[in-house]
Amino acid sequence: MASNIGKYEDARKSFDWNIAKKELGWKEGEPLNIGALCSDRICDLGDAEKTALIWEGFGDKHKSYSFADLRAYSNGFAKLLEEQGIKPGDRVCIFMDKIPSLYFSFLGILKMGGVAQPLFSAFGDESLHVRLDSAGARAILTTKKHVRKVRKILADLPALEKVIVVDGDGSKLKDDELFFDVEAAPRVDSYDCYPSTPETPSVLHYTSGTTGQPKGAQHVHSSGWGQYLTTKWVLDLKKDDIYWCTAGPGWVTGTSYGIIGPWSLGVTQCVLDVGFGAAMGYKFIQDNKISIWYSAPTAIRSLMRQGTDTVNEFDLSTLRHLASVGEPLNAEAVVWSEKAYGLPFHDTFWQTETGSMMIANYPGMTIKPGSMGKPFPGIEATVLDLKTHEPLTEPGKVGLIAFRPGWPSMFREYRSKPEIYRSKFVGEMKDKEVSKLHLAKDLWYVSGDRASIDKDGYYWFVGRDDDVINTGGHLVGHFEIESALIEHEAVAEAAAIGKPDAVNMEVVKAFVTLNPGYEATGDLELKIMNFIRKRLSPLAMPQEIEFSEKLPKTRSGKILRRYLKALEWGEDVGDLSTLEDD
Ligand code: WT7
Repeated sequence: MASNIGKYEDARKSFDWNIAKKELGWKEGEPLNIGALCSDRICDLGDAEKTALIWEGFGDKHKSYSFADLRAYSNGFAKLLEEQGIKPGDRVCIFMDKIPSLYFSFLGILKMGGVAQPLFSAFGDESLHVRLDSAGARAILTTKKHVRKVRKILADLPALEKVIVVDGDGSKLKDDELFFDVEAAPRVDSYDCYPSTPETPSVLHYTSGTTGQPKGAQHVHSSGWGQYLTTKWVLDLKKDDIYWCTAGPGWVTGTSYGIIGPWSLGVTQCVLDVGFGAAMGYKFIQDNKISIWYSAPTAIRSLMRQGTDTVNEFDLSTLRHLASVGEPLNAEAVVWSEKAYGLPFHDTFWQTETGSMMIANYPGMTIKPGSMGKPFPGIEATVLDLKTHEPLTEPGKVGLIAFRPGWPSMFREYRSKPEIYRSKFVGEMKDKEVSKLHLAKDLWYVSGDRASIDKDGYYWFVGRDDDVINTGGHLVGHFEIESALIEHEAVAEAAAIGKPDAVNMEVVKAFVTLNPGYEATGDLELKIMNFIRKRLSPLAMPQEIEFSEKLPKTRSGKILRRYLKALEWGEDVGDLSTLEDD
């Protein structure tokens, strides 16, 4: 079967983003709404009765929904929000497990012109608070299981007017909370979508950096073009495929490729809303006849550990294409998957900020295990010299991965942080308006990662260019962890780094100096752990706290996390001349 992309080189040569616009039936000047693209349009094309979502939850619960259901239930949420006084442009947070209403409400928010802010349901109240506050969210859609976290912080969120609980029976809610069960409410088969334009804000995703609180990367409706075409060409989704994206919509993979990409193509997708184990995942593939699987290196490494015997207990013969994202995919994992499933995992590289895949291994292309592949057709990529920021021309030299602005799914700002947004670009910045940077063809958007390009044009990931920790595909900023640690009375200073881990690639390790009068004991470590557990998301929790007499610093007093990390990884500690004197 020929792949959607055909020959990579040919696709690259003749590329034009108008391909996506044309295939999606969009003409200049017409409205563009992702909510409509993913449901109304598919129904109008004659696939109203086709299955859109196959969902499996705790206790062996199974449900399935057609594109007509997707249309009606997303309309239901759009209408509700409108009736509740939510206006186009308002941020509406979705805070729930991967239940069907998450998917319906996401499209519903977009349909009424709102900005969808999906958040990972395991966030503790502090992680939730920071993000809701920054977004200035006016409404939150949640479930009876998670509403208690919202209650704890509501008084500190003046903009948050509506708390809507979407499951249960509406009992035990507070007076100011609203109950709305979309499947029990009258079905809304038609709804006039907000006439958003390609530049209307759509999805707001928070991502971690090295300084300050998480940053809100704001996307716009034109992202749909990029997500549509990359899903079609990189994941190779075709009409009859059954697709599974393991990521939840609290993360960008779960919206770009767990909602928008597949549904804009009218493809059936599966959601497994329970913890992930090898046997469970394989059974899910077997039962649902999944053909395309988009996963992450951490999951793949844990499957490797379970071995091929587990694989052989299941019928996985429907699988035809596998892809991965989030962290470096080890060469061993690619080789193993070829042995275990008869198919290699295809690595893809992108970010919350890029909104869609930037560098990838394409169906039919020769894979070099361990390489991220080549830039998507239509994406101009390079690696820049670490100091001069000039594109490197010599194969194999390590530089900063950078992209020429202008692709449709690129983020348009970090919410309320124009200077940080500006700092992501290099080139002639003078006289450039911050609102036009995403179009500036003479600048480079710098990703914050290092890589080299080989003589055949393949990209090889080297590492992050900053101190952000990537644990199991989730970015965690050291600032968040250190801030939580130093709130404890015993802690004087703290430094958080990633330490090597066989499955998660990195886990968080914290170094701590103590205030006078405190002793470094196991008991104290436990107390500090319990203290920060309430403040941090489970992903950001240190696996280990090491007490030190002092932390290594630069002469100007900055903690040298790079040094601590190099020691931890057994690497050369490099140039120590910037270390402060004793
Ligand atoms: C960062 C972006 C985009 C989906 C999930 C993560 C790292 C991503 C790869 C890869 C090595 C990768 C980078 C990147 N990353 N894909 N294939 N190989 N590293 O989104 O949370 O914004 O993280 O994840 O460091 O900058 P994100």
